Amino acid sequence: MTKVALITGAGQGIGLAIARKLLEEGSHILLNDREKSLTQEAVAQLSRLGKGSVIGCSGDAADPEVIEEMLDLAIKNFGTIDQLVCNAGITLFGNFLDYGREDFMEVARVNQSGTFFLTQAVARLMKSQEKGGAILFTSSVTAHQSHENLAAYAMSKAAIEMLAKNLVLELAPLGIRINTIAPGATLTERTTSDPNYAATWSKITPLARPAFPEDIAAAAAFLLSDTARHITGQTLIIDGGWTAISPSPYA
Ligand SMILES: NC(=O)c1ccc[n+]([C@@H]2O[C@H](COP(=O)([O-])OP(=O)(O)OC[C@H]3O[C@@H](n4cnc5c(N)ncnc54)[C@H](O)[C@@H]3O)[C@@H](O)[C@H]2O)c1
Repeated sequence: MTKVALITGAGQGIGLAIARKLLEEGSHILLNDREKSLTQEAVAQLSRLGKGSVIGCSGDAADPEVIEEMLDLAIKNFGTIDQLVCNAGITLFGNFLDYGREDFMEVARVNQSGTFFLTQAVARLMKSQEKGGAILFTSSVTAHQSHENLAAYAMSKAAIEMLAKNLVLELAPLGIRINTIAPGATLTERTTSDPNYAATWSKITPLARPAFPEDIAAAAAFLLSDTARHITGQTLIIDGGWTAISPSPYA
């Protein structure tokens, strides 16, 4: 039976790579991005692959009206949602002592509240469908190790990892699995704006390079697939070994 996947923040970067991988593996795709042009371009690009059906819904994935619209579109076009990827996330950099309330609230709104309420809406739908489902959150290595100027972002990513764990209690009895991927440095539009990004991360990553979006998408597709049917409440870190080590006293 063909599965239907809803993926947020998928106009480019990691979300788009996950959408492409799920499409290649046989899912129909509803992809979301807050940028209309990116949504349209991503739908056109994926449609050219000639695999399953791909539709788009542009808008802020943390906005309750957009959440409703995404679910309506999925039901109207495909009649179901089987896979949800809460990937939309924002980073607002700033040192802790000067960090503003407005930036903090916006990071929490998109990363935490957006993930929480979209998952709630889709889990309610999955419950009514009575056939289970698979949900995936996109966290970050910053939920595990300290990074400069990312206190609010790190906190929001650690929060969604705990949300996935907590929801096992309510969702496992419904046959819904829920996991998290935590990418390390990944070559996407947001990071490659820094021309030194790849070289810098290649030096400090045990596997000697940052991730490609396809590396993250492969892990995402595994956790969403039936191959991972006994895995729930877990976080998979994909970082080339970066969080496995500590600074060497001999470096
Ligand atoms: N790139 C990395 O190194 C890295 C590392 C760890 C975690 N992540 C996480 O991976 C996810 C994707 O990151 P990326 O690097 O691909 O980002 P990106 O900025 O390249 O792309 C993310 C897309 O999400 C969209 N978006 C942002 N806020 C949105 C919202 N509220 N609603 C709908 N769409 C929204 C943006 O328009 C953009 O097209 C994010 O959650 C990010 O925190 C990225």
